[in-house]
Amino acid sequence: MEEKKSFLKQKIDLESPNKNIVPITTSIGGDGKLSVGGCSIEELVKKYDSPLYILDEVTLRKSCRAYKNALEKYYPGESLPIYASKANSSIFMSNLVSSEGLGLDAVSEGELLTALKGGVPNEKIVFHGNNKSDKEIDLAIRNNIKIIVDNDYDLKRLEEISNSLNYDLEIMIRFTPGIECHTHEYIRTGSFDSKFGFGIEYLNNLFASISATKHLKLKGIHAHIGSQIFELDPHKDLGEIMVKVILDAKKFGHNIKELNVGGGLGIKYTKNDDPPSIDEWVETISTSIVEACKKHNLDLPRLLCEPGRSIVSTAGITIYKIGAFKEIPGIRTYLSVDGGMSDNPRPITYQSNYSACLVKNPLNINSKNKYTIAGKHCESGDVLFKEIELANCKTGDLICVFGTGAYNNSMSSNYNRIPRPAAVLVCDGGAEIIQKRESSFDLLRYDILPDRFIK
Ligand SMILES: Cc1ncc(COP(=O)(O)O)c(C=O)c1O
Repeated sequence: MEEKKSFLKQKIDLESPNKNIVPITTSIGGDGKLSVGGCSIEELVKKYDSPLYILDEVTLRKSCRAYKNALEKYYPGESLPIYASKANSSIFMSNLVSSEGLGLDAVSEGELLTALKGGVPNEKIVFHGNNKSDKEIDLAIRNNIKIIVDNDYDLKRLEEISNSLNYDLEIMIRFTPGIECHTHEYIRTGSFDSKFGFGIEYLNNLFASISATKHLKLKGIHAHIGSQIFELDPHKDLGEIMVKVILDAKKFGHNIKELNVGGGLGIKYTKNDDPPSIDEWVETISTSIVEACKKHNLDLPRLLCEPGRSIVSTAGITIYKIGAFKEIPGIRTYLSVDGGMSDNPRPITYQSNYSACLVKNPLNINSKNKYTIAGKHCESGDVLFKEIELANCKTGDLICVFGTGAYNNSMSSNYNRIPRPAAVLVCDGGAEIIQKRESSFDLLRYDILPDRFIK
């Protein structure tokens, strides 16, 4: 009876991992305990300690293939899915998406270097950012990486560089299409009031400015309307708007060949979430562009999209060990774990919700107890779950939090000088380390005590 309620009993969608709460390979062993990728979580923690980030290779590859296959199915022109590496940037992730034929988007020198080191071909990398440093621009140009111009400051510097090198530079521009969507205001980027990109009302001036340059060649346009979006209509509208922008640019002599619609598809963090599938999202956006191009008698541009969360989030889980309990009679019982806002800043930043279970009793059999799961940081708001129902548990038990592959590791910090967790990849019963655990001593490496303070 109790078992039926568990999200772990929900049917797994094998084609679109973003529609599941758990990684595709999640199972419950003969001992009733949780395993992922054929690996017992308890054994992984014995070997690698906790907190521990775990990524499931099967789920990652399924997500990449879902984008590739859907683009091939619905978009008759050329296309390329580009992984938004801000979701989870590592040499491993760069290598994996590249092995699946995806490109990658980077927004900093660090993400660029990681992509290059991970083996992503230069021509499949795009470089974003609303305040790129000269050093970052230089790195992108030296490696022939396409730059997405975000503002006049970018444009001015690229014009100067291309003139000084006497070299034609292909660029894309990012604009804000003025589309509102229902997501948290911090992850909503396509409305007029956004720090990113050129306002759509400014584009004609921009096209004229680019035409007046000697060496800047406008090859593509980009827009990204936000993240964790469940509606399809905003992306349908975006396709139509972008085709109109291509037509406007034509009037200024620009032959736009690439259209990058950004990312934004949501994932299922809890039972209440019902995001569209990757297939539906790609179909919506492809159909909207194909129809608008047909209407205006325009050749199909190369279609790029930049999924981040929907590639990596569901593949990731985080394992914590339970420490202290604090019962406040009639109010709540706090259960504290060995991580928190430093390895997952989303709950405190966006009030995000997740699903979790005990590793020893994943189906929550006889769940009767409500807990507030707190992190170990010196911050009252460091709470991962405000209220969660869990079966009986005690100090030393393990908790698995699902859907943590995106914007956890990549947004992690060392607040309270807490070292970052290790990350392991699981596949076919094997586990491989993809990020070493930091030690507290690592955190001292960049501290300097000036000589005059040394007695
Ligand atoms: C420019 C750009 N592209 C792609 C993404 C990825 O979005 P998501 O992870 O929601 O797919 C983001 C996220 O903020 C972004 O800013």
